[in-house]
Formats: sequence, C-alpha cells, structure tokens
Amino acid sequence: MLTIRPTDNGFGALVTGVNLTEALPARTIAAIREAWLTHQVLGFPDQHLDLFGLERVASFLGEFGEDPFFESLPGHSHIAEVRRNAEETTPLFAESWHSDWSFLAQPPSGTLLQAKTLPPMGGDTLFADQYAAWEQLDTSLKKSLEGLQAIHSARRGYARDGLYGEQDVGRSMAIRYSDEAMKTQSHPIALTHPETGRQALFVNLGYTIGIEGMPDHEAWPLLLRLFEHQTQSQFQYRHCWTDGMLTLWDNRCVLHAATGGYDGYDRVLHRITLAAV
Ligand code: SIN
Repeated sequence: MLTIRPTDNGFGALVTGVNLTEALPARTIAAIREAWLTHQVLGFPDQHLDLFGLERVASFLGEFGEDPFFESLPGHSHIAEVRRNAEETTPLFAESWHSDWSFLAQPPSGTLLQAKTLPPMGGDTLFADQYAAWEQLDTSLKKSLEGLQAIHSARRGYARDGLYGEQDVGRSMAIRYSDEAMKTQSHPIALTHPETGRQALFVNLGYTIGIEGMPDHEAWPLLLRLFEHQTQSQFQYRHCWTDGMLTLWDNRCVLHAATGGYDGYDRVLHRITLAAV
C-alpha cells in the first residue's frame, strides 16, 4: 500500500509501498503527484531504477525539461549524471543554495535524482522550504517585495569565467560552460506556485544577480538579507540518501544545496529535470 510518511521538518516525505520499476495505475500516479505538491520533496527508498525506468517515472510526472549546461548520458538525452570521483578536488557541484535553472524563461517544475553510487558517509542534500520562508518574512518587507522582479543568470556558475568555467579542470561530471550563461531572465520575487496557488520566495544565491529597476547598491543588501533569511535552519530539511533512493523535489517552492563530507569515495546520481507546467 502506498504510504507517505512526512518528515519531522514541516516539509518533505518518504514514500514506500510502491515499485517504481513497474507500470503504475493512474490513481497511484495521481497520489504521488499530489504528495509532491503537498510535501515539496519526496524520497522513494530502494527503487534502483535504470536509465529507462527513470525516464518512465519522469514521463508520469510531466514533460522533460532542458539541461542547458550538462552533457547528457549516451542514448538518454534527458539524463545527466551528477558525479564526483573519489580523488576529485574540484569545488563541490551545486553547493550554493539554488532552485534548478531559475535563470530560464520557464524554470523547471521539478527534478528527479536517482542514487546510483553513494558514499558511506556525507553527501546529504539540504532542502529549504520557500513557502515557509515567504510566510515568515516581516509583513512590511513582504509588501515592499510584492511586484518586484529578481534578475537571474547562470553566469556565476556556467560562464567561461564561472565556477564551472574554463579554469575548472579535473571535474568528472560532464558540465559544459557557455557564453549563453551570460543571459538574464527576470521572475517575481514572490512567486505564485502555478499548481498550488501558494506564494513562495523565489530568489537564490546561486542564480539571482539583481533586482529589476533597483541599483546594485540597494539591491544587494536586500538580496543578501533574503538569502540569509530563506536558508535559516528552521526552513531546512537534511535529506539523507539511502541505497537506490529516488528523490523528487519541487523547484518552485524549495531551494536545495549539495553537501560534501565524502572525500575518498565516489558519489554518482542520475538526474532528470521536469519542464514547467
Ligand atoms: C543537484 O543540485 O542537482 C545535485 C544535488 C546533490 O548532489 O545533492
């Protein structure tokens, strides 16, 4: 029986009683989708999906999204490998808090990440609830933010001179920097979730670079205040991976950040980005 067990953190849930390697009845898919919208992050332990299985699960949940700066796995144009080899010394991938590809005109609804090789310790993923972060801002600050558009860009990570740019040598993950990363795209700071109708704080340290119509000397103190607010411990959930776990999150209302602590061990996961709805 499908069982959805919320974590103690106010968001996030573990889902058991379902075998994602098999075809799923429509009512199970609907229940998983509803749980995703309700709990924002779902972990499905012990799924051990191969690449075809991962694509099939993604197709239950929506359309494939684009992954602008990843090389996909051969024969699977929508799957990227999040990889770090045991001996690697490059900066950790995705360590800054972010919402996946928030710099796109239509940022992805969600992301699926399937554990393939996990280290014996470390490598948890942190999530931060952005409904709660929005709700718990000062009322006067919320009022002043409503109607403002934040400017997002991939440049700090994926431009030629970015963290994963031409000086990033020795990385095992197939990241491809590009001048396309210099583009910008604006989104409301108070994002109305298109499926739940709830408001979420939609800025992030990884990709937000300014505020429309506001000089940087005003925008940056405000953004830094929001970055600090939105990742406070009371909004966080530490997701500990277990063997074969599939994790699904909602980029419209959570931020996430990778963590290290596994030097000397490989960590490999397969990722599919789900398109905006
Ligand atoms: C990601 O942001 O896609 C990767 C997260 C992780 O490696 O924990």
